[in-house]
Amino acid sequence: MRIAITGGLGFIGTALARRLAGAGHDVLLIDNLSPQIHGAIPAPTLVEGVAVERLDIREAYAAAEKLEGLDIAYHLAAETGTAQSMYQVRGYVDVNEMGTASLIEALAKAVKRPSRIILASSRSVYGEGAYVDPARPDRLIQPQSRLPEQLAAHAWELRGANGAELTPVATPETLPFAPGSVYAATKASQELLLRAAAPALGIKPVIFRFQNVFGEGQSLRNPYTGIISIFFNRARQGLSIPIYEDGLESRDFIHVDDIVDGLEAAMTADLPDGATMNLGAGIPTSVNDLVRALLGAAGLDVPVEVTAQYRVGDIRHCFADNSEARRLLGFTPKVSLDDGLRRFCDWAGTQPAYEDRLDAAMAELRARKLAAG
Ligand SMILES: NC(=O)c1ccc[n+]([C@@H]2O[C@H](COP(=O)([O-])OP(=O)(O)OC[C@H]3O[C@@H](n4cnc5c(N)ncnc54)[C@H](O)[C@@H]3O)[C@@H](O)[C@H]2O)c1
Repeated sequence: MRIAITGGLGFIGTALARRLAGAGHDVLLIDNLSPQIHGAIPAPTLVEGVAVERLDIREAYAAAEKLEGLDIAYHLAAETGTAQSMYQVRGYVDVNEMGTASLIEALAKAVKRPSRIILASSRSVYGEGAYVDPARPDRLIQPQSRLPEQLAAHAWELRGANGAELTPVATPETLPFAPGSVYAATKASQELLLRAAAPALGIKPVIFRFQNVFGEGQSLRNPYTGIISIFFNRARQGLSIPIYEDGLESRDFIHVDDIVDGLEAAMTADLPDGATMNLGAGIPTSVNDLVRALLGAAGLDVPVEVTAQYRVGDIRHCFADNSEARRLLGFTPKVSLDDGLRRFCDWAGTQPAYEDRLDAAMAELRARKLAAG
């Protein structure tokens, strides 16, 4: 099949391209080589046998001939920093929303359009995700994002109307959008744009909402996203690991190979209109536990500080209910967190150590009153 991947030189795009090219498909990567991810002098891991078009996705509508004759389009190009999106609002809306609009216009011009467009959306569209009040465990609650004053009071956990602490449970796709950051709002908007426009063009939209993806190939120099890469890059240079809040906040970490399994299966699976699927490990891991496992896998020993710092827009907990992806794609994650961390550390240890920019990124957020503590 002839397949295009926007954002194809990124972390997930590269892994997907390798898999698809290895299976004999004709793959085209569209990417502008964003300096925040690739550095000032781009040195991407080019994928052998794969064509690369250096193109800003926002300009795709003016280069529609590049997208002629596709069987499948994957849309991964995006700006991805949650905290950064809170002040670079126009930039995030421009790349993520206008970029999607531009891609749709380019596909609309094609004589032969792809049968599917497969979107990399995010669990961030749920905001805080699903919880239950322990007194009413049968009723899902989707709490409001935490307000700056709650965070300032270190009231980290979500509480119900009666003040009781809520318990996080697996988040299903049926939960409505409740974006708690500009990034999240743009991912919800990407979904809506594709759902609104693609069927009219005879293209089936397939939406994936990824949890926290990690693994070999993740940018080690982007201080705005990828907690595992950021912490590894610090630890290998002997820098301490700052854990925000109380370290009991949790995320669902899924290895990139499992994500690629889902993305690949979605090309040919029999899917209903509007198919929307979570992809996660389905297991919550606290940041404290993650750091312990990462340092163990890396064989590194550096100070770990639970700092009570916080960032506006960060969620407290979220993990995936994968049952829809299991039902539609037969999806089950295969790589455990410990195996994935070992693989990541083996790879990351072969990469250069990059100047740590986490403290500078945090200082920038503090100056804008988007972080404190
Ligand atoms: N990594 C995760 O944990 C995660 C979680 C949820 C959703 N996602 C989504 O998955 C997708 C891929 O994420 P990733 O982790 O591979 O990110 P990444 O930053 O490694 O890759 C994104 C790629 O998009 C490219 N890009 C950025 N702006 C562009 C533009 N204007 N035109 C063309 N290309 C542009 C970048 O150069 C980069 O190569 C994104 O849409 C992201 O929102 C990722």
